[in-house]
Amino acid sequence: MKNLFLPLLVIAILLYALYLSRFSTPKKKYVDTTVNPNYTMHVREHQHDHLEEELSRIDSTAYAKEYIITVINHGSSQLHFKKNEIMEGGFVSKEDAPKVACYVLELSGRECKEPHPKDAAMFYTSVCGGCHGDDGKGLGGSYPDLTRKPLLGIEKREEFLKSMLLTQ
Ligand code: HEC
Repeated sequence: MKNLFLPLLVIAILLYALYLSRFSTPKKKYVDTTVNPNYTMHVREHQHDHLEEELSRIDSTAYAKEYIITVINHGSSQLHFKKNEIMEGGFVSKEDAPKVACYVLELSGRECKEPHPKDAAMFYTSVCGGCHGDDGKGLGGSYPDLTRKPLLGIEKREEFLKSMLLTQ
């Protein structure tokens, strides 16, 4: 019996080692899933800066030009104008969109930095004038008045930015 003790002990140890290597899972590392409050503050401040920065240039001609170009390229469906008619994007090519946008700004006496070629007026009259009128005033309220300051979409954006800043 004494002779068996040592081999049995060795076998028991080996079996235990095998059990540990096979079946015991390593302890999971502790991961902190709570968001660091400093990080949340940082993101807030960052957003705040972006909103304020956009608001600071919302009255500029450059901002209006960007907005008009976006509408020309992608259309508009946010103004719920009359029977909720929407405007499709792509009436003119992406290359011509900035020229037409400049012409639209000139209709309300604003100067666009880049001079546009004379064909912009022709583009506008033939493509946009049918709805917005040759003078841009929207055919007596049937379509958005493109000489309005600010444009409806920009006014909407301004309200949104201000409401976001209030909740920050
Ligand atoms: C078929 C009619 C139609 C044509 C053509 C058209 N639009 Fe529009 N446009 C609309 C309608 C309708 C809206 C309002 C859509 C909405 O509810 O958002 C609109 C909205 C706009 C707005 C936003 C106005 C604002 O106050 O925010 C701009 C800018 C604009 N159009 C410019 C143009 C330009 C430039 C062209 C020519 C490339 C053009 N549109 C061609 C019907 C038209």
